[in-house]
Amino acid sequence: MASGAAGREGGALQAPTPFVFFVCQHGAEPTLKAALCEPAGPYRLAFSRDGFVTLKGTVPADVWSKDLPGGPFVRARGHALKRLDGPDIAPRVEQVLAEFGSLDWTGIHVWQRDPVEVGWRGFEPDHSVSSREVAAALTQALQLRQDPRAAKVNFDAPIGQRVLDIILVDREHWWVGTHPVQERADGWPGGTFSMEPPANMVSRAYLKIAEALAWSGLPVRPGDHAVEIGSSPGGACQRLLELGLHVTGIDPAEMAPEVLAHPRFQHWRARSLQVKRRLFQPFRWLMCDANVAPEYTLDTVESIVTYPTSQFAGLLLTIKLSDWHQTRDLDRHLDRVRGWGFTKVTARQLAHNRREYCLAARR
Ligand SMILES: C[S@@+](CC[C@H](N)C(=O)[O-])C[C@H]1O[C@@H](n2cnc3c(N)ncnc32)[C@H](O)[C@@H]1O
Repeated sequence: MASGAAGREGGALQAPTPFVFFVCQHGAEPTLKAALCEPAGPYRLAFSRDGFVTLKGTVPADVWSKDLPGGPFVRARGHALKRLDGPDIAPRVEQVLAEFGSLDWTGIHVWQRDPVEVGWRGFEPDHSVSSREVAAALTQALQLRQDPRAAKVNFDAPIGQRVLDIILVDREHWWVGTHPVQERADGWPGGTFSMEPPANMVSRAYLKIAEALAWSGLPVRPGDHAVEIGSSPGGACQRLLELGLHVTGIDPAEMAPEVLAHPRFQHWRARSLQVKRRLFQPFRWLMCDANVAPEYTLDTVESIVTYPTSQFAGLLLTIKLSDWHQTRDLDRHLDRVRGWGFTKVTARQLAHNRREYCLAARR
């Protein structure tokens, strides 16, 4: 791929290229390519690896153009400017700053594409050791130049900021890109929500619900009542309790003792269909993380939220995908939820989702 990124010190404009990049979970690439590439979309396929894809379109007005690929399975996206190859970190860091230092970015995100599938041998997308090494080298090099952006390496960037992306595609193979922060998840390095979980994290669903809340902006407040279907062993309930909610978990399986013992938690040890619909009346938020087929989840939730005494303000549903072809049903799922009276209905495959996506809905 040709590079239009002729770097110049002194503040000259960086030339945009016709290439964009996106990252997604391993396995989502064919769905995205089909949606974004000709004949359905405006792009043609360029360089690609599992979880990292570049596409060729038209040359944008500048490297901060907001015209970028999107969709629920795109975790992060941006303009692809240049590929950098080499065995050592230091010379490439120098090259990045020589060629892109004068560009008007407000911060840098350094991150690695997923090397394997999410969940494989415990893998979670996050800041890998190598991306931390490169981030540290960039911070140091910026400090030496007395560049105040040294404090903005791998920062949580607010909407409106301009981010230089350093993507570690492989150990010896990086890409440099740019993206404007247009929505909340664009502000996270690689589109991956990151937080330090508690030492006694009950299950990885803790991270999943934390990311779902951060992405969706669902306005949960201390004192609110939430119910989760498919709550065992209890990572999601643990997070909701931490946030000060009253939480009811519905699951025939056991809850972790520390969740069960919490004074604001109660366990209805049953399958969702066994719970009388009128008992859902006190709840403001409904979470569902049951390991069942999408239609079963939607049938169950529909029968609860459309019951006359229910008054849910919002939903966070994990929709499991037994195979990637089920992504074709996503728009139908969203329309179905809108049909229950929710106006803001969105979907995203969260970084902490496995082969599943998160559907968020608000009145
Ligand atoms: C992925 S686990 C849930 C993880 C959980 N959210 C956490 O925070 O640790 C899926 C759970 O769904 C439960 N489940 C499956 N079908 C269900 C149903 N119809 N009603 C309630 N729970 C169900 C299973 O028993 C299982 O514990």
